Amino acid sequence: MTDTAKITLGDKTVDSPVLSGTVGPDVVDIRKFYAQTGAFTYDPGFTSTASCESKLTYIDGDEGVLLHRGYAIGDLAEHSSFMEVCYLLLNGELPTAEELEAFDNTITRHTMLHEQLATFYRGFRRDAHPMAVMCGVVGALSAFYHDSTDIQDPHQRMIASHRLIAKMPTIAAMAYKYSVGQPFIYPDNKLSYTGNFLRMTFGVPAEEYEVVPAVERALDRIFILHADHEQNASTSTVRLAGSSGANPFACIAAGIACLWGPAHGGANEAALNMLREIGRPERIPEYIARAKDKDDPFRLMGFGHRVYKNYDPRATVMQKTVREVFDALKVNDPVFEVALQLEEMALNDSYFIEKKLFPNVDFYSGVILSAIGFPTTMFTALFALARTVGWVAQWNEMISDPAQKIGRPRQLYTGPAHRPYVPVDQR
Ligand code: ACO
Repeated sequence: MTDTAKITLGDKTVDSPVLSGTVGPDVVDIRKFYAQTGAFTYDPGFTSTASCESKLTYIDGDEGVLLHRGYAIGDLAEHSSFMEVCYLLLNGELPTAEELEAFDNTITRHTMLHEQLATFYRGFRRDAHPMAVMCGVVGALSAFYHDSTDIQDPHQRMIASHRLIAKMPTIAAMAYKYSVGQPFIYPDNKLSYTGNFLRMTFGVPAEEYEVVPAVERALDRIFILHADHEQNASTSTVRLAGSSGANPFACIAAGIACLWGPAHGGANEAALNMLREIGRPERIPEYIARAKDKDDPFRLMGFGHRVYKNYDPRATVMQKTVREVFDALKVNDPVFEVALQLEEMALNDSYFIEKKLFPNVDFYSGVILSAIGFPTTMFTALFALARTVGWVAQWNEMISDPAQKIGRPRQLYTGPAHRPYVPVDQR
């Protein structure tokens, strides 16, 4: 690969530097392109544009590879814990045993919310979507934690990051409790991050709550699988919001708002609904035929991905986890059999083979979350909880980057050119 790209526009040819990352495609540095040529580049949806430099996550969609700080997601899901992955994403290296204990301790001690926030919840309707509540409550955190909003101070940035990771399970569990009319459950520092979340969600003051280890492990793994995913829409939203110097709580609230969209965080709910609608393996061919029919808008939910043109490595872990949860909870939901057979049929069908359509992370996650007892409205809230570490790590990386500027895309303007104003009585 040459180290410059020649771009010719009319009678002008400019040399643009070509930058290489550790792995992955080279990028053409077009930062001076407008100054040199007077033209903008055009790339709605950022399909060919790198918006930043990052050391956090790497995806090779053709090979089905996802690395967090160089570690394969399958290895992390198998051997690591969500707390360890949080440390890794924030600090760049896996922690020693002492570092992990200290980090875990710090996060545990930040799990409580300012008591006045409980009053804040009571302002919402009981039937509010948990994501609406999460957007509001997370955005409001900056009104409560003024001492961690100076973004130029790395120490305050780290405190805000720890607070966000620690408080998100409490916020999500309270959103759930409020929706079902049960009392809020305070965190219990004896429990793990994930065990604590399960207790705050499903426990009631009248009874002891027992965390089922297989469920705790499965949910922890789901959190690992969702921890970060490169420059996706919500992460890019967090970076863009943060580029103006907005405080971290406001930036993460913006990320939550973006994640809520059905094209991003809402697909596991759609996949589960589809599997329930199919209901029995005998009906699978009918749905496969519909997915292939150009005149039918139906798509196999949980299949296909913008980046992965191979098996989504997260889906492999999810499939294994479903079995573990079903065994531990003695669940026998026919939806899993439908999912397995649907996957097998689709993977052997020439339409899906040719278009490189494979199961994505959402294909099985709804099945697991539903078996654990989460209502579908909580699925995206759980995604937000887990992705918070990715968002804060990316936000920290952006603020510390000397090349960081306010995000300000250009546009291809196609509205009216300058025209004279006509007073209202002459129109
Ligand atoms: N079922 C049937 N056909 C499909 C599917 C599917 N799930 N996904 C893509 N295709 C077909 C398209 O019809 C298109 O066919 P064509 O070339 O004949 O027109 C071709 O495959 C390419 O699809 P695009 O929509 O152009 O691919 P894109 O990269 O834009 O879309 C997306 C990716 C949105 C994920 C798509 O595969 C989809 O809609 N999947 C179902 C929804 C889903 O599972 N989303 C979750 C994504 S993972 C996440 O966000 C965490």
